[in-house]
Amino acid sequence: MIQKIRIPAFLAMVGGSLLLLESVAAKPAADRAAYEEVIVPILRAKCYQCHADAAENPSGKKKIKGQLVLTTLEAIRKGGDEAPAAVAGNVEESIMIERIMLPHDDDEHMPPEGKPQIEEHELKVLEWWIKAELPVGKSMKDAGAPADIIAAAGKIPSDEEVKNKLAQFFAEVGASAAKLAAARQALEGPISQVAESFPNAIGFVSQQDSDLTFTAVSMRKDFKDEDLAKLSPVSGGLVGINLGATSITDAGAANLSKMPRLKRLWLNGTGITDAGLEAIKGLNDLEYLNLYGTEVTDAGLSKLSGLKNLKKLYLWQTKVTPGAVEQFKKSVQGCDVNMGIKSE
Ligand code: HEC
Repeated sequence: MIQKIRIPAFLAMVGGSLLLLESVAAKPAADRAAYEEVIVPILRAKCYQCHADAAENPSGKKKIKGQLVLTTLEAIRKGGDEAPAAVAGNVEESIMIERIMLPHDDDEHMPPEGKPQIEEHELKVLEWWIKAELPVGKSMKDAGAPADIIAAAGKIPSDEEVKNKLAQFFAEVGASAAKLAAARQALEGPISQVAESFPNAIGFVSQQDSDLTFTAVSMRKDFKDEDLAKLSPVSGGLVGINLGATSITDAGAANLSKMPRLKRLWLNGTGITDAGLEAIKGLNDLEYLNLYGTEVTDAGLSKLSGLKNLKKLYLWQTKVTPGAVEQFKKSVQGCDVNMGIKSE
């Protein structure tokens, strides 16, 4: 089962900054065709992704939001659901400009928040082009562009460069999506194996990754040491495991050392003691650890002093003393240790 994978916003930002490396086109800006060689590269870089059919869309997939196509002059003049995107000679009535000018957090702002944005020099050129009555097939010079507009146009990469960078960007996005899909698919067998014993207890953390999380909470005391061993098919993929209030003891906890990627671990209300923490002390990615209501003592806590990534540690109703916590905090700086109501 291959899920639809969204392009993470940060990748889109990387794409944007790639496009900012504006190596200036060889042709003098005054000689560049106003629409074909100046406006098109702007719209291709910032808008086509959501306003073009498959052939012109940098993603290779048809996406025409708001019924608006921005890849031909006719389509731009016709506009989408609302009104013409550009009206010759009338910037005020051209809703593409209106949308670009809206505050970034406005739902109607274009391009949507998190996507590569229109920059000032690009906006200047777009506005000029509309005022100049949408010239097509004319050079900047012949369309009457003044010096400052020609200078702004000179900062816009050629359409060829934009195409190449977008192709590279979407190839990377495609490759990472394929990699993710393969990683998820490889886990399907192991997941169903585990799910046979424990239905609804195992799953991916999110649709955007291949990390796994397991929870035994609904099984409570029925979940025993030997059950933990049954997670071995997925132990390398687990980043979270909730064993709170189960029958886990030190014997079972030994299996935790085979889950090196664990970030979040709940052992609250279990039979774990200082001895069981041996299995945890090497889990260097651990960020959250809940030992609330266990028999853990100062000696156990001292075993955890190498867990430098720990941000949150619950020790309420354990045998740990405030002095030991002070000591621990010197080793694991920035860790928030919760000792219950009377803590700090
Ligand atoms: C990431 C996707 C995305 C990008 C990139 C994007 N848009 Fe949009 N656009 C949308 C969506 C979604 C809608 C429909 C919802 C709405 O009207 O806000 C829309 C609607 C519009 C509309 C209103 C159309 C109508 O008549 O209703 C305009 C105008 C517009 N976009 C212009 C632009 C311009 C110009 C750019 C580039 C500078 C751009 N968009 C980039 C997603 C995008």
